[in-house]
Amino acid sequence: MQQSAFYENDTPLAQYLEFHFGERWHGEANFPKALADAAMDAMDGRPLERALDIGCACGRTSFELARYFRHVDGIDFSNAFVGKCREMARDKLVRYARPEEGELVSHQERTLASLGLEEAAGRVAFHQGDACNLEPRFTGYGLVLAGNLIDRLYQPSRFLTTIHERINELGLLVIASPYTWLEEYTPRDQWVGGFKKNGEDFFTFDGMAEMLAPHFRLLVEPRSLPFVIRETRNKFQHSFSELTVWEKVSR
Ligand SMILES: C[S@@+](CC[C@H](N)C(=O)[O-])C[C@H]1O[C@@H](n2cnc3c(N)ncnc32)[C@H](O)[C@@H]1O
Repeated sequence: MQQSAFYENDTPLAQYLEFHFGERWHGEANFPKALADAAMDAMDGRPLERALDIGCACGRTSFELARYFRHVDGIDFSNAFVGKCREMARDKLVRYARPEEGELVSHQERTLASLGLEEAAGRVAFHQGDACNLEPRFTGYGLVLAGNLIDRLYQPSRFLTTIHERINELGLLVIASPYTWLEEYTPRDQWVGGFKKNGEDFFTFDGMAEMLAPHFRLLVEPRSLPFVIRETRNKFQHSFSELTVWEKVSR
């Protein structure tokens, strides 16, 4: 183990690099890959032309989708994340200082080749962008995937009520979220659910269904995908993300 000052000391980035490209923890599958696999199951014979991974963080889901799609765009708000994604696509490897205990870190290196993703990297482009205010050029997708994103948006309703403009007819919107609303990320009046409405429990699924109803139908029953984020060698977050798949339909 090394002193962290020796390496770039960016804890959230290192945690996400471990989450995307690192080891499996507590018996759970790699979440960003499982998400791409679930989206591919849902595609079920639809054209595999263009996909968008919105809120891509370190890019694992984008790379996984590029095994199958002709082109994948990965977009994230964070310049640091997008920079790492581009570095990985270019160098085919990433190095990071994984937090272990206190100031101690371990030096990790992951390659795309070890994950069978070297060739797919040529079909992915990473961009800095805002899910609530996407540039017009990001359109014409057969699949838009938003993994653990909506409860981190400053205005999720804007994403949910405009994303149909970017999806082809009969294309899919795949959303996964643990619905952990925090005012730190999303002002209380922008939460999609998780509160009482007219005296009744109003869940995020209900809020999403209302916002998506004009342009989408729910394709399969929602299901839960587990994920584990390793903070240090002794501290892990074990969460569950609800996976919902929506098909764009003309009404
Ligand atoms: C909880 S992380 C999940 C990342 C990744 N999809 C995954 O499953 O590991 C949420 C990501 O959304 C990004 N994000 C937050 N607000 C955003 C916005 N307005 N537009 C695009 N990305 C955003 C963050 O930078 C972060 O990378």
